Amino acid sequence: MQASYPLRLKQVPNDNSVVYAFICYKAVLQSRHKKGDMIMYPSSSHDTREQHTPQIQYDMPQSHYTLQSQYTPQSQYTPQSQYGLPTDPIPPVTPGRHVLPPLPYAYNALEDIIDEKTLRIHHDKHHKKYVEDLNKAELALQTARNSGDYTYIKHWEKEVAFNGSGHILHSLYWTSMSPPGSGGQPHPATQAYLERDFGGISHFWAQFSAAANAVEGSGWCVLGYNPYFRSLEILQAEKHQNLTQWGVIPLLVCDVWEHAYYLSYQNERAKYVKNWFGLMNWPEVEHRLNQAEPASYSL
Ligand SMILES: [Fe+2]
Repeated sequence: MQASYPLRLKQVPNDNSVVYAFICYKAVLQSRHKKGDMIMYPSSSHDTREQHTPQIQYDMPQSHYTLQSQYTPQSQYTPQSQYGLPTDPIPPVTPGRHVLPPLPYAYNALEDIIDEKTLRIHHDKHHKKYVEDLNKAELALQTARNSGDYTYIKHWEKEVAFNGSGHILHSLYWTSMSPPGSGGQPHPATQAYLERDFGGISHFWAQFSAAANAVEGSGWCVLGYNPYFRSLEILQAEKHQNLTQWGVIPLLVCDVWEHAYYLSYQNERAKYVKNWFGLMNWPEVEHRLNQAEPASYSL
């Protein structure tokens, strides 16, 4: 039996929460790849696909196991798609135009577990501030690009990471919850992943709650789908401002640890970075962009 996946988080009932969002991501990714597309990477020390034969026939989408065998080494890779800008019905958010999403329920809907006043302040003040400051940072970076003045690049990159992550994680937090008694049970695909990756919902919850209780300071506990390992992961985010925006899929990375350049460049990182431009593998960026683009969420 083939699972039927909704394609957008906003189409998912409240009871499915963020777990379903990540499952949707996987389903969308698979549903949009045509036969022959190359979506997998060579085996690495992390790749356990050989030991990871799915045991559950229905629920685990099977197509990616087929696609794995169709992998074409990077050296033979030729971009196949005639790529234009995404035609996804969800429009991209242009710099400075993020908006605070409304709560998907009334402020008092979570009473007995989360009181109305807490929810109102959390959403209307804290989350709103993240959105406002994200917009401010994005516009500042746009100004920097236009002027070529990157004097304050470190400050604005930190701001865009801190506030972008705050906006994304809070948006997911609201939809991760539903009024008491209405959350239901894990749906079939979620159930299958929980069984395979954690040994069932009770083991999942034991690990998730232990991890949540052990987060130091302010932070988050996250159940996420790792598209590289094709599995669910529970992760702690102790400081979401650590220069990432949750959900971003890397396309191009430059290692700027000293071990990457010190023997040739010593402490001249700028020289290494400048020369690194000549190493950039644009077909590979295109390949990864083609993999990532189908994963468009709405918040
Ligand atoms: Fe918060």
